[in-house]
Amino acid sequence: MRIVLGVGGGIAAYKVASLLRLFTEAGHNVTVVPTEASTRFVGTATWEALSGNPVSNSVFDDVHQVNHVRLGHEADLIVIAPATADLLAKAATGQAGDLLTNTLLMARGPVLFAPAMHTEMWQHAATRANVETLRSRGAAVLEPASGRLTGADSGPGRLPEPEAIFDAAMALVQGQSDFQLPLAGRTVTISAGGTREPLDPVRFLGNRSSGKQGVALAVAARNAGATVRLLAAHMDVPPPAGVEVVPVETALQLREAALAAAADSDVVIMSAAVADFRPAAVSDTKIKKRDDRDDPVITLVRNPDILHELVELRNSAAPGRRQQLIVGFAAETGDNDGDVLAHARAKLQRKGCDLLVVNHVGTDKVFGQDTNSVVILARSGSEPQEASGTKTDVSAAIISRISGELNSVSPRA
Ligand code: CTP
Repeated sequence: MRIVLGVGGGIAAYKVASLLRLFTEAGHNVTVVPTEASTRFVGTATWEALSGNPVSNSVFDDVHQVNHVRLGHEADLIVIAPATADLLAKAATGQAGDLLTNTLLMARGPVLFAPAMHTEMWQHAATRANVETLRSRGAAVLEPASGRLTGADSGPGRLPEPEAIFDAAMALVQGQSDFQLPLAGRTVTISAGGTREPLDPVRFLGNRSSGKQGVALAVAARNAGATVRLLAAHMDVPPPAGVEVVPVETALQLREAALAAAADSDVVIMSAAVADFRPAAVSDTKIKKRDDRDDPVITLVRNPDILHELVELRNSAAPGRRQQLIVGFAAETGDNDGDVLAHARAKLQRKGCDLLVVNHVGTDKVFGQDTNSVVILARSGSEPQEASGTKTDVSAAIISRISGELNSVSPRA
């Protein structure tokens, strides 16, 4: 296999010599492309000697071979280690200032980033956004290891061990995505956005849901290795790549899609804002205003509670069938009858789902925003778990909780 090993400018570059050894000893042909900064830590002579191939970091060397195009095109795999904050940013924004970033832009095969940096840099919103961008485009970005860093500090940010990077690289190439992928082999159905209930051919009753949380959940589940089916009601954001999208408009359409999808799902997450009521009658023609008529009255009828039906369907499944995990969302405001958590606990009981993700809503909160703060309640009665941050952060916490809950259950046959 032809591997391009991109080396970033971090002290952990020295560990990449062992990674290179692992690749060459396994019989792979490795071309090392170091960044200019990385050569201050490990010189090109080391890479040439260990790889047996010429090493360059300039687009102006060997111009006749058009290296900046050829390397990326021909590589079966590109591994970047250490992936510094700078390199992640450059890759995420598609910069092409040197041979390595050019090679990344020309890549046709899988790309694996093994990050290493100080904890603050790894946790910085800019780096997280860059990692999210790269993952959403299909690159694999490993979580850094935790431990002693270069200075007196310690925390997440260490380069994963060369063996771990090697295993991840091989798993990526062989399509065995279960390396660090907790939902591999699982099917996750997620509803997202807000339903629209038609009144006539041009009007509907809708709600403020943007679909951002549901889409972030779909990305997190996909990145965790799951096969994802997104039941997409009206959304302000596009669905992500790499998931199956089932478009729906009304609550009744969503019900049909959800019940069908549930049959082969290990997890169903109802994050859509489903209209509780729909107009009792839908006019085939546009409702006109007429001077001689009273103001129109819209009669509403109840929509079925999809979440509750999913739970009943699951509970009535043949004994011995694998357990399906059902997750509901609750948008709550406190009132005279109780605070947000009290209402949410009652809803969890009523709906019978396994987990309930509780949002505290007001007109300026949650809907359409990029950040969110939730509490995850479990039917098992375990302590409420708080999660906050961007909708991506919150989704990662929810998906990781779901993975934990599924741990004891084997994937569907
Ligand atoms: N839900 C559903 N079908 C409906 C209404 C809601 O499946 N007809 C799901 C939502 O997707 C969400 C959960 O139920 O996962 C909670 O929805 P919410 O509207 O907050 O609760 P309601 O059951 O409508 O209760 P209430 O309006 O009294 O708060």
